[in-house]
Amino acid sequence: MKIVIENLQLRYGKFTAIENLNLEIGDGESVVLLGKSGCGKTSTMRCIAGLEEPTAGRITIGDTVVFDAEAGINLPPNKRNVGMVFQSYAVWPHMTVFQNVAYSLKLQKLPAAEIKQRVTEVLALVGLQEFAQRGASLLSGGQMQRVALARSLVMRPSVLMLDEPLSNLDARLRDNLRVELREIQLKLGLTTVYVTHDQQEAFALADRIALMQGGRIVQMGGPTDIYDAPVSASIAHFLGVSNVFDCQASLDGDGQVTAKVAGTDVPVRSTQRTLAGGKDLKLCIRSEDFALSRAPHGGANEWAGTVRVTGFQGSSVRYAVELQDGSELDIFAPTKGAERFGIGDRLWATVAPENVQVLPAEVPAGHNIDARLPENNARLEEVGA
Ligand SMILES: Nc1ncnc2c1ncn2[C@@H]1O[C@H](COP(=O)(O)OP(=O)(O)O)[C@@H](O)[C@H]1O
Ligand SMILES: [Mg+2]
Repeated sequence: MKIVIENLQLRYGKFTAIENLNLEIGDGESVVLLGKSGCGKTSTMRCIAGLEEPTAGRITIGDTVVFDAEAGINLPPNKRNVGMVFQSYAVWPHMTVFQNVAYSLKLQKLPAAEIKQRVTEVLALVGLQEFAQRGASLLSGGQMQRVALARSLVMRPSVLMLDEPLSNLDARLRDNLRVELREIQLKLGLTTVYVTHDQQEAFALADRIALMQGGRIVQMGGPTDIYDAPVSASIAHFLGVSNVFDCQASLDGDGQVTAKVAGTDVPVRSTQRTLAGGKDLKLCIRSEDFALSRAPHGGANEWAGTVRVTGFQGSSVRYAVELQDGSELDIFAPTKGAERFGIGDRLWATVAPENVQVLPAEVPAGHNIDARLPENNARLEEVGA
């Protein structure tokens, strides 16, 4: 079911946790709220679920207005048909897996045969069919989170909301479960709001990502759009870009951006064709976008440096490369098919102009995307909303 959030505001006393937030989530769409801790992700989710009363705005789920500050509408959580999964497992340890999942259906006094059928179906969906009779206290963290998911899904919610559901799991399990979650979401065509501070998780699970800062949405788009074109250096850094330098930049005669990193005289060319206003610009380059060589090519975008630290990471090798001015590049080179360098080696690092971004350090104060607008909702059409 479609969700429309209009002019949402949430204040805790004098503190504003959500400021004039506008967002539309299409029927069957998976939107991830992504941002640093404290940016208002959980608050937004709790407002949709009815666990928090906003100070202003309107929230519509399907055709039902579930909250409207002006009209005095505020449906309780159990009238919103929203399923929720949290970071903590919230599974009843003294019950079996089956009993945990069946619990709410029993409260609804459904016939035993129907309960059995629905629980069995949903346990198969989350990969727990073998564990129906196991005591919940004997499950691993990943299995407990599957139970929590099954317990939400068995209620057939029109919207599923997940708040950092994988944060307590170890890395490999997290990777696997995130793929499974995406499979389930696509299979059921379930409208999903997923909250995380983890960019990888957001990229893997989202049709669209709403990037939040200070209670506002500062960027909205598909994972590739956000990855390729962050709107500020601080967002780029948050998304894993580790080479961020102060720079001065201008538009060339040919309409492309040329930058000079503070303290160096190497001109850096970018294929970027616009330059944000403001003086505080940053040059941003991803670690994996450098090519390394033992000799200079003498072309553009080339830095000479010395390897200070190397770190083997399996599929890549990470180098800290010190430049003449004392600054450092963080570089990932593939393990296979690339030359290996050792500590103290001299090398030249180059980057293609299409992989250089010159961005404002921060989005302007008060920058707030209206994520209901069609230009911010390209994906909505693709998912048929
Ligand atoms: N009950 C509350 N009372 C006062 N401040 C709160 C309360 N809940 C959250 N906040 C504040 O609101 C901001 C947003 O919180 P939250 O939505 O939990 O962030 P996130 O989920 O993105 O980490 C934070 O600064 C947090 O400290
Ligand atoms: Mg949170």
